[in-house]
Amino acid sequence: MSNNTEEQITQNVLDSMAQAPNPRLKAVMSSLITHLHAFIRDVELTQEEWALGIQFLTSTGQMCDEKRQEFILLSDISGVTMLVDAINHRSPDGATESTIFGPFYREGAAELPMGASISQDGRGEPTVVTGRVLSTDGTPIANALMDVWETNENGLYEQQDPEQPDMNLRGKFRTASDGRYCFVAIKPVSYPIPDDGPVGHLLRALGRHPFRPAHIHLLISAAGFAPVTTHLFVKGDQYLDSDAVFGAKDSLVVDFVRHDSTEEAAQYHIAAPFYTVTYDFVLKPSGK
Ligand code: BEZ
Ligand code: FE
Repeated sequence: MSNNTEEQITQNVLDSMAQAPNPRLKAVMSSLITHLHAFIRDVELTQEEWALGIQFLTSTGQMCDEKRQEFILLSDISGVTMLVDAINHRSPDGATESTIFGPFYREGAAELPMGASISQDGRGEPTVVTGRVLSTDGTPIANALMDVWETNENGLYEQQDPEQPDMNLRGKFRTASDGRYCFVAIKPVSYPIPDDGPVGHLLRALGRHPFRPAHIHLLISAAGFAPVTTHLFVKGDQYLDSDAVFGAKDSLVVDFVRHDSTEEAAQYHIAAPFYTVTYDFVLKPSGK
C-alpha cells in the first residue's frame, strides 16, 4: 500500500516503473521524474502555475502541423536541441562542429555545377564561398555532397515568402578530386525565428529577442564519413552572442570579405560589390 505524501510520492512513482521491460526507457523516465519532482519542489509550483504550464504545452501542441513544429522550436529556444546535438556530436579530433538543423531544410534541391549561384532572383549581396572538404587526417575528400540553404536578404526562407521562386537559395554541390568546392550564395542576414505562436509569447515574457545571427546552412556528406549539419556565421553579427536557439559556435564564424572590383566580380559572373568567404570543412571517418 502506497502512502502518497509529499515526501513519498517521488519514490512511489519510481517504484511503479520497477517492472518496465525496456531498461533504457526505465532509466530515462526515472531520471525525468526525479528531476521534474525536484524542480516542482524547488519552485513550490502553485496550482495556477501548473494550469498555465498545461495550457502553454496544449497551445504549443495545437500550433503543430506538417509545416510548423512548435515543440521543436520550444526545444530550440530552451537550449535542449543544441545540448542533445553537443552530446551526440563530440568531435575532439578537429572535425567541423555541428549545429542546429532548423525547420527550413527542403529535400530535392538541384545539384548545381561548381561555381554556380543558388540565388534565382538576384536579390542580396553576392558571396563566393570556397574551400575544401577534408578528412580529419587532412586528406581531401572528392565527391563530397554539400547541400546548402539560406534566407533571402529579407530574412525569409523561400517557403515563407510567396514572392520568392520555388527552391530559391538552395542547391547541392560536389567537391572536385582535390576536395575543392565553390558556390555563389548571398551574404546572409540575421532574422527572427517564427515568433507568432506560444514560443514567441514565451520569449517576450522572458525579455528575450527572437533573432538568429546571419548564417548559411550546410549539410555535408561523403561515402565513408559521418555527415555534418552545420552553418557558416558572419563575423561581427550583432546576435552571435545571443542566438535565440543557442546555435552559434566560434569555430563556425567567418570573415565575409568585401570586394569592389568589377573585373574581379566578372570572373564569377556576378556584380560588384561582392563578398568572399573561405572555409575548409573537416569530416570524421564513419565508425570512429
Ligand atoms: C534556422 O536557422 O533556420 C532555424 C533554427 C531553429 C529554429 C528556427 C530557425
Ligand atoms: Fe536558418
